[in-house]
Parts: sequence; C-alpha cells; structure tokens
Amino acid sequence: MSKEIHIALAGLGTVGTAVVRLLQEERSRYREKLGVPLRLVSIFDRSYRRKETSWIDPSVKLTDSLDEFLGTPADIVVELIGGIEPADHIISLSLRRHRAVVTANKLLLAQSARRYFELAREHNAYLGFEAAVAGGIPILRVLRRSLLSDQLIRLRGILNGTCNFILSEMAESGRPFQDVLKEAQQRGYAEADPTLDISGRDTTDKLAILALFAFGHFIDPQLIPTQGITAISPVDFSFARKFDCAIKLLGVAERIDHDLSLRVSPFLVSEHLTLSAVSGAFNAIEVTGARVGPILLSGKGAGGDPTAVSVVADILNAALWAQGERRFHFQPVLNRRTSDRANGDERTPGIPSLNVKETYPYYIRFFVKDRPGIIAAVASILARWGINIRSVVQEPCSDPLNLPFVITVEPTLSSIMDKAAAEFRILDFNRVPPLVLPILEP
Ligand SMILES: NC(=O)c1ccc[n+]([C@@H]2O[C@H](COP(=O)([O-])OP(=O)(O)OC[C@H]3O[C@@H](n4cnc5c(N)ncnc54)[C@H](OP(=O)(O)O)[C@@H]3O)[C@@H](O)[C@H]2O)c1
Repeated sequence: MSKEIHIALAGLGTVGTAVVRLLQEERSRYREKLGVPLRLVSIFDRSYRRKETSWIDPSVKLTDSLDEFLGTPADIVVELIGGIEPADHIISLSLRRHRAVVTANKLLLAQSARRYFELAREHNAYLGFEAAVAGGIPILRVLRRSLLSDQLIRLRGILNGTCNFILSEMAESGRPFQDVLKEAQQRGYAEADPTLDISGRDTTDKLAILALFAFGHFIDPQLIPTQGITAISPVDFSFARKFDCAIKLLGVAERIDHDLSLRVSPFLVSEHLTLSAVSGAFNAIEVTGARVGPILLSGKGAGGDPTAVSVVADILNAALWAQGERRFHFQPVLNRRTSDRANGDERTPGIPSLNVKETYPYYIRFFVKDRPGIIAAVASILARWGINIRSVVQEPCSDPLNLPFVITVEPTLSSIMDKAAAEFRILDFNRVPPLVLPILEP
C-alpha cells in the first residue's frame, strides 16, 4: 500500500473547484476513514491563470499543459473538463496506464461507456462516474450494488433541473416558455445556450446511462425517442390541472417482457404519483424492482457542491479499491439478464427490441381556426387507427381563430399513436402542430 494516494484533476470549473475545496476541507476525516492521506498533486485547466486560485494548497501544481498534466504520476485521475476532447484522451490514456479514473462527463459516458468498461477491465483499473447522472443523487451506486439482488422492471426520472425549473415556474405563474427560460438564464439555472437541456437531449444521455445500469444494455441515445419542452404552452397546464396532473419532463426506461421501452418526453403525471410533486431545480428518480417495489431518490441533480459529493465519493471508493477492496467493482454491468428466470426462460440476452410494446394513454392538444367538423375530422383519424377517445375538453376562449382544445385517449401503442399524430399534423385547421404527450397514471 502506498503511503499517500495521489490525485490529478482536470477542469477547475464549477464542479472541479467544489471538488478541490471538499478534498481540502475534509482532508483529515478522509485520512481517518481511509487510513492513508489523499494528496492532490496537479490541476490542469486551460484558463487557471484567469481564476482565483490563492486558496489552493501551494503544493498543488497548476498547469495549462496537457502533456505536463498527463506526465505527472498519479493514482487517481479526475476528469471534470466536460465535452469530448481532451476529456476522452485523458480518460482512455489513464485507464490504459492502470490509473483509477473518476469522471462526471455524461456526454462521453452516454457515447462510450462500453469502451471505458472494457478498458477498465482489461487494464484492471477503477472507473467512477456517479456524478454523471443526477449530480448529488447516488443513483448509479444504488442500481449497481443495492439493487443487484432484484430484477429491475422500470426506472423513470426527472433528470434535468433546468427543464423542471422552467415547467414548475410555467405551471405556477402561467407565463409562457420564452419568458421563463429568460428568467432561468438570469438566475443561473439555464446555460446561455440551453439547447441540450430544453431539447431533452441531456435527459436522453442520462437515461441511456441509467438504462445500461438498470438493464445491462447499452442503447445508443440517438435511438431513444426524445421530445423537448419548447412546444408546451401555458394552456397545457390549465388542461393538465383538469385531469389532476402536473407536466414533467421525464426519462422513462421500462422492461416489458423481453423488450425495453425508452422515452424522453414531457408527460402528464397524475397527482397521485410522487414524481408530480418534485418541483424547481430538483431531480428525482423512481426505480421499481420486481420484489422491492418502487424506490424514490430525490435531491439536487446539479451544482458544484452536490456534484462534488458524488465525485469525491468515487475518489474515496477508488482509494479503497487501490487498497484491495475490489470485490464489487467488476460486478458485471453489461448484459444483465433481461429475461425472467423465474419463468424458466433461459434465453440468451441479446439486444432487446425497442419500444415495441410501449403503451400510454395520451393527451393531444390542438390550437385551431374554429369551423364546423373539426372534432369529427380528429375522431375519424383516431377511429381509423383503432384508438379509443377518453375525453374531449375545451377551455373558454374568446379567439375563434386560435381555439385550444384537448382530446385524451385510452392506452395506445406508441407506434400507433405516432402514425395518428402524423395525420393530425397535416390537418388544415391547425394553427400550430398538435402537441401529443403520454400520460402517466398510478
Ligand atoms: N455543473 C454541474 O452541476 C454538473 C453536474 C453533473 C455533471 N457535470 C459534469 O461535470 C463536468 C464539468 O462541469 P462544470 O459545470 O464544472 O463545467 P465548467 O464550469 O465549464 O468547468 C470546466 C473547466 O474545464 C476547463 N476546460 C474546458 N475545456 C478545456 C480544455 N480543452 N483544456 C483545459 N481545460 C478546459 C474550463 O475552462 P474555461 O473556464 O476556459 O472554459 C473550466 O474551467 C461536465 O462533464 C459536466 O457535464 C456538471
């Protein structure tokens, strides 16, 4: 066992700064827990000279040279730069050099988790990535360890605090999307370029990582149907309230027989479900096991300090692992059996089909130029696809040129709903494309 465990950290931004502070402030407690001291030896950041670094222990070598950083010997390499390069190079090279790697980079993990696992396994190196999904919520450890004993059926979560803040504010204030987005940017809840968040892509990347740990299958995020929140209008919240629902952007992954259903979309969520009450910038993830039933984890999914707690937990685990506590790390993650052994089915797990058996009741909102025959036209499309209407609701509106109304339908296969929705979109009375949202009920 070495006398000290050396750490090299790349990226002195929001998370990196909080990690360095935490390592400094809790130094003696960590030393006591681990039995050996952790020592931060180098920090790589392209603009460290423009940052206030006087509080950092003077023994730490600050550098803006990648070569110098990679040349510094370290037991644990922490990647907190974000983006693709040089983050991927730092992670891959460090694993090849048998160094433990800790990263919060969801973008890279969603794309390359399989390659990193193989590298870690091949080179007997530790790989920690708890902070990549839901910041301070320890969901990956729960999936990998605590629930290893159960068959997971479903996972659904509010995985993007920016979108949850915007939807909560719209619901409360009745203000339109663009207004609330501007406020979110002013308050630091949304990036200057919010595209990744509001398009749903950030949630999709996180869902792909969660599905890998829950079901053992890597699903390319590009294959996951994804709908963002930009088309949601204030009137949708008044309609949703009539159905006793909130509107939440969710990532949902579900095992149905031998297949998987994955989707990112704003959902109408029944007020009887706990997820409907998670508001503001909070994240929440509900995992359901065949035997344990539903478990809900909720908390701060972003921000320097909460995310640093997950990063440093990985650093501490890497340090324990370096001292021989390797038992759990190579627990197989990929290809966890998705078939049901209880039914005696020993089918070799392969790539499951995606979204083949996915069904939801749906909410379909129209803004139309009023004229006779509109409901009949919509009803005839639904009838043609064998979809049963549950309700038709109209809000009082003084403008017949832009009249909102909603049709909800009974549970329908998503593949059928997609076909009906394509026909709704070309109806000539639409003022905007109709909004089709799945409904989540108890
Ligand atoms: N922030 C959160 O709440 C949160 C939560 C969960 C996960 N994460 C993940 O954590 C990682 C870091 O996020 P963050 O919010 O801390 O980002 P950040 O504040 O932008 O910090 C990144 C730091 O890395 C530096 N950097 C960027 N590219 C570089 C390069 N090519 N060479 C050297 N240094 C470079 C940046 O310098 P400049 O100042 O010059 O750009 C900045 O100091 C990301 O993967 C993110 O997805 C963040």
